[in-house]
Amino acid sequence: MRKPAILITGASGEIGHGLVEHFAANSQHDVVALDLKPLEAPLGGRCTANLAGDILDQALLQRIAAEHDIHEIYHLAALLSTSAERAPAQAHQVNVGGTLNLLHLAHEHSRRSGHPVKLLFPSSIAAYGMPDRATKAKAGKVKEHEFNAPSTMYGCNKLYCEHLGRYFTLHFQQLARDRQGSGVDFRGLRFPGLISAFTMPTGGTSDYAPEMIHAAAKGAPYRCFVDEEARLPFMAMPDAITALTKLAAAPAGQLRLRTYNIGAFSVSARELHARVVAEWPKADVAFARDPARGGIVDSWPGDVDDTAARRDWGWQPAFDFERAMKEYLIPNVRAFYAKR
Ligand code: SER
Repeated sequence: MRKPAILITGASGEIGHGLVEHFAANSQHDVVALDLKPLEAPLGGRCTANLAGDILDQALLQRIAAEHDIHEIYHLAALLSTSAERAPAQAHQVNVGGTLNLLHLAHEHSRRSGHPVKLLFPSSIAAYGMPDRATKAKAGKVKEHEFNAPSTMYGCNKLYCEHLGRYFTLHFQQLARDRQGSGVDFRGLRFPGLISAFTMPTGGTSDYAPEMIHAAAKGAPYRCFVDEEARLPFMAMPDAITALTKLAAAPAGQLRLRTYNIGAFSVSARELHARVVAEWPKADVAFARDPARGGIVDSWPGDVDDTAARRDWGWQPAFDFERAMKEYLIPNVRAFYAKR
């Protein structure tokens, strides 16, 4: 009997790092990491397979599914929102085409192996589209079904993939006479902006928060591309890993939604800046709003209502803003740059 395997796409990215570390330490499953570039040592060495390749390469995906008994897929590979806006056709190919490939892989593998395959999908606050700042301020915590008209390519990709996942799980081949279902158990999370102490995001629009913190710790000047009033929900990376693994472990019968909001804390750029300066009094931060990227931030909600996640699978963040800064970000970011 082969060991059950977990496939992580986008393994070299921010969430991937945290997940591979988590599974390498806690899981009996084989861990198969896939990214355009392989995970660096020593993390790569802790995986059963550390593969370099493209999620658009069907032959590669088929080979992976033939060589490993995949039970869970954490499909993290994507172009983030700023990158996607600069290369919309490529973003669609990777974000939508890649997800469709993984859904097909999950379905084919489930059919061959006879067991369901879970597909964990990081969606985003980018799936929302707030028409203007006044509406955003008035809306407060938005629910999953509200304001679903995103203004970015990335947001459109994420929202559509949420629907694809729901379709594969609930309605796949609904006209087939011997309809058997796809065997795919899709579970999505709408992440707020994520902040890691150890890695920097590439090509996102919520990046100003981690950029400001890391620049202050390094003693580098930072020009913030949003103004002080810009507000988004954020989350410390350990909570993001907890959310993914907790949702994966939830009994299927408890899940009333296929994609859930999860929240941790909501801060304005002004509040973030004040906390950064309290820690690093010499932090050199200038606010110079880029109307385009700032506009994307304005189109995302300032906070999310995560009642459904709390009710259905016990979501509970461990880190509010102060705890995230004091216990996770500040000590780890300081130690990270002290070593360099
Ligand atoms: N953090 C992501 C971005 O900024 C949103 O999911 O693109």
